[in-house]
Amino acid sequence: MKRVFSGVQPTGNIHLGNYLGALKQFVELQNDHECIYCIVDEHAITVPQDPKELRKHILDVAALYMAIGIDPKKSIIFVQSQVSGHAELGWILCCNSYTGELSRMTQFKAKSGGKESVGTGLLTYPVLMAADILLYDTDVVPVGNDQKQHIELTRDIAIRVNNKYGDTFVVPDGRFMKAGARIMALDDPEQKMSKSAENIHSRISLLDEDSKIKKSIMRATTDSDGEIRFDPENKPGVSNLLNIYSALTGKTVEEILAGQSWRGYGDLKKELVAVTQEALAPIKQNYNEIRESEELIRVLKDGAERANAIAEPVMKRVRDKFGLGI
Ligand code: AMP
Ligand code: TRP
Repeated sequence: MKRVFSGVQPTGNIHLGNYLGALKQFVELQNDHECIYCIVDEHAITVPQDPKELRKHILDVAALYMAIGIDPKKSIIFVQSQVSGHAELGWILCCNSYTGELSRMTQFKAKSGGKESVGTGLLTYPVLMAADILLYDTDVVPVGNDQKQHIELTRDIAIRVNNKYGDTFVVPDGRFMKAGARIMALDDPEQKMSKSAENIHSRISLLDEDSKIKKSIMRATTDSDGEIRFDPENKPGVSNLLNIYSALTGKTVEEILAGQSWRGYGDLKKELVAVTQEALAPIKQNYNEIRESEELIRVLKDGAERANAIAEPVMKRVRDKFGLGI
């Protein structure tokens, strides 16, 4: 069985982009893959975090993982900082990467742009991500499109180390959804939907109330020609709505548009509201139950143990290859 690894940062506001780009794949993969799903708290502290909020958000993501259908009996769910190999391998890989390649990363440029002082962790963030992946001899990494460059870097580092020290790492592949890989902000379809945008109507959070879902979709930015057609270049707003519709229902855009009698964007939006509310209802219901249960901590402790059992032999292999220790 191929091994899958992926992670989500515990930074609140998990949204439809996260779900359709990444989380939905997590659930699908667990039936025929060995899956490891991480809550990457060490990535979250690359920008300032309130410690109390961070702890809360870690458990929020863990509960959300389970609420969408990740089954801890099938998959490993754990918190990154509970397995020390991530930070250890992260350091070793830092010594095998270049500031030039890291400063070229789009995400780094976006997060550091215009700032007077930039934390070192923001620059080395993708190296820690490479460590997450390589620590488990991962074959497949399900993520959204925005992580493509980081996956390429992970492959480059793995190949570089393998060439220098002999076979050390499995070289992983990214896995991207057809429809959901890049969900755009509802208020500005030129930007990707994000956790941190100030306007709450730019995103649908997975736990949003039905009334909020309706408000955000009904006021989504479209255009003035009134024609419902998939054309991301010229009609980014309408295309984003169709894309969300497609990703939520599993229907292609052609299937969605065939036989529709929608007379304008309002009709499309109304239908999308219903589809979204229906998709998120069971997640919300599961979430509240799981978030309050004591099982959550047990799942995370057990997950960390199982993750560590896979990571430790890989770390031993790495230390041996590099000549670290005695
Ligand atoms: P993050 O919130 O940065 O931890 O992202 C978690 C996962 O969601 C990653 O696999 C991202 O690639 C994915 N993701 C984040 N934003 C979007 C988006 N707007 N559309 C599709 N996937 C996304
Ligand atoms: N960088 C990813 C993001 O921002 C999160 C992440 C950290 C990740 N480590 C990972 C994703 C390992 C996949 C595999 O979305």
